[in-house]
Amino acid sequence: MSHPSYPRLASTPSSPLVRSVGTLLTSVVFVGSALAAPAGDAAYGSKSYDDYEEASVCAECHVDIARQHEQAMMSQCFVHEWDEIEYFELALPHAEKVEKVAGVKAGCNGCHAPLAFLAGDIPPSRPEAGTRANEGTTCDLCHSVTGFEGDIPYNFNWISEPGETKQGPRPNRVSEYHGIAYNEFLSTAEFCGTCHNEKDPWGLWVKATHLEWKEGPYAAAGVTCQKCHMAASEGQSVDGGETLPDVRNHLFNGAHDNGKLIGSVEVRIHPEERSVKAGKTAKLAAVVLNAKAGHMIPTGSAEERVVWLEVEAKDSAGKVWHLPVDPKGFEGEEYTIGSDLLAYQDLGDIQGLADFKGVRRDGPVPVGDRIYRLPYFDPEGRMTIAQWNTAAFGTDYRLPPLEARTETFTWELPGDVATGPLEVTAKVYYSRLVSSVAQHLGVPEEEYAPVEIAAHETMLTVM
Ligand code: HEC
Ligand code: HEC
Ligand code: HEC
Ligand code: HEC
Ligand code: HEC
Repeated sequence: MSHPSYPRLASTPSSPLVRSVGTLLTSVVFVGSALAAPAGDAAYGSKSYDDYEEASVCAECHVDIARQHEQAMMSQCFVHEWDEIEYFELALPHAEKVEKVAGVKAGCNGCHAPLAFLAGDIPPSRPEAGTRANEGTTCDLCHSVTGFEGDIPYNFNWISEPGETKQGPRPNRVSEYHGIAYNEFLSTAEFCGTCHNEKDPWGLWVKATHLEWKEGPYAAAGVTCQKCHMAASEGQSVDGGETLPDVRNHLFNGAHDNGKLIGSVEVRIHPEERSVKAGKTAKLAAVVLNAKAGHMIPTGSAEERVVWLEVEAKDSAGKVWHLPVDPKGFEGEEYTIGSDLLAYQDLGDIQGLADFKGVRRDGPVPVGDRIYRLPYFDPEGRMTIAQWNTAAFGTDYRLPPLEARTETFTWELPGDVATGPLEVTAKVYYSRLVSSVAQHLGVPEEEYAPVEIAAHETMLTVM
């Protein structure tokens, strides 16, 4: 294997972190951990950018892993356009105006630009300035994490001990370039939970992907986040290195990967009776299942995602009819059925827009369609996409892992429906961001264009 030679880490021979090349053993004592290293908010400003190496350095040897990581959202979580807009145009000005949410000025960066947070470079410069904030959740951040503080992983409460020794998931590994500490914590879901659970200034779990997983069937079966998002395959973790049966690919594919979304939900629809007369009532039932995700669909940034079921009938003359879902009558159901109401008026307060009436609550969802969502409410009880400004939740009607929901449709066939075959189609769509909010804020279309993630059709005959 060819090891390019690099300037070694910014550590002097007197530094306790320096180890002699070639004599590195895997049973490294964590020199830094004798003093409890700060975690979460307390770690603010406790490090410098120079304590962390750039991904481009790791990429010289860990080629495949680096190429995978650079095309994952994880490496783009500060520079990605919507992230830039939400932080710089909403969260940051809001934090400077309203004391209750002042903490997010630094806090957003604990997960999105952890190096800037640790270096105390807050607020970071915009991505165009090219600072090291742009590295997002980078190699040397994750591979410096030795554990987390407290009982529940959340709000970046990882403990980072950067240096010449990298935390790795396998025992007995040796590299001439850096020390390796075997660290089982990296292979746990709690590791991911340090950034994939978020508590807001009201103490609400506005992001709870790890907590949802923990309550569900995959945790019980021992299927961690890594199994689905860092799928293992035969290969080498280092260019030209030993072939291993199960290299941990750094894919981190999620809602920004249509290939991951499509098929994560399944839908099947059937009629009660196969034939029905015009003027009479047809009844249909659709079963919608979260078939593949280890947590709710949608999870994480649930305040911005919209997942909905659309059912249409096409008669033999080609005319298309839209079928509204039957209400079930549970509390808070009005937020789970597409409507023309306006919401998100807090955008006007944050942006200082006089007389802002809000934008369409349900973005692209047709009136009457079932929506799988968890509504977030601001302190005035209005629906919000500002997760940091969330004071209450509505009814949780998302899709839990391996659980299905049945929706019924009672449709009185109009007099002018053509006789002959009637095709009924059920489709599930996923939009990463409410389109009305995206358009208001000038977020690129790829962030809100609906993705069809499941579809099925069934046939009836109109007599
Ligand atoms: C000069 C080449 C080189 C560079 C540069 C390099 N590594 Fe490595 N790294 C290796 C080798 C060799 C191994 C041992 C691989 C093995 O035994 O399978 C290794 C192993 C690791 C492991 C442990 C793997 C395991 O299976 O537990 C981690 C974690 C790691 N490197 C992270 C990094 C990070 C992060 C960077 C950049 C900051 C980096 N490496 C830079 C060569 C390099
Ligand atoms: C059984 C496989 C499986 C497991 C286990 C699993 N996921 Fe997922 N995950 C998926 C699938 C499939 C999707 C795509 C559907 C979606 O976005 O909800 C997804 C989506 C995501 C997303 C994107 C959601 C969004 O709205 O941006 C994140 C983040 C995520 N997973 C993190 C995690 C974390 C963290 C864990 C562990 C606590 C985990 N996942 C466990 C399969 C899994
Ligand atoms: C979000 C955190 C995160 C980031 C960012 C990250 N890794 Fe990892 N890496 C992990 C985890 C977690 C594992 C172990 C997964 C497991 O045990 O299933 C791992 C495993 C590895 C391994 C061992 C692979 C094997 O199977 O032997 C190497 C080497 C590695 N990472 C290098 C890198 C490099 C290089 C980068 C940047 C290009 C990087 N990592 C970015 C979390 C991360
Ligand atoms: C240091 C914080 C941090 C850690 C640790 C971390 N993540 Fe992430 N992760 C993020 C951020 C921030 C994003 C990007 C969100 C964005 O900007 O869209 C992200 C994105 C993702 C996505 C892509 C979501 C999408 O919408 O496509 C997946 C999947 C994911 N992470 C899984 C994991 C898994 C699995 C682990 C544990 C092995 C993990 N993460 C550990 C911070 C972290
Ligand atoms: C505890 C860690 C954490 C904190 C704190 C945090 N985020 Fe995130 N954020 C994530 C993760 C992880 C994701 C991606 C996966 C998901 O959607 O769950 C994400 C997703 C996002 C997205 C959606 C990206 C997309 O492309 O859809 C935006 C925008 C965002 N965050 C902005 C912010 C802002 C602004 C703040 C501060 C008010 C903030 N985040 C605080 C972890 C965090």
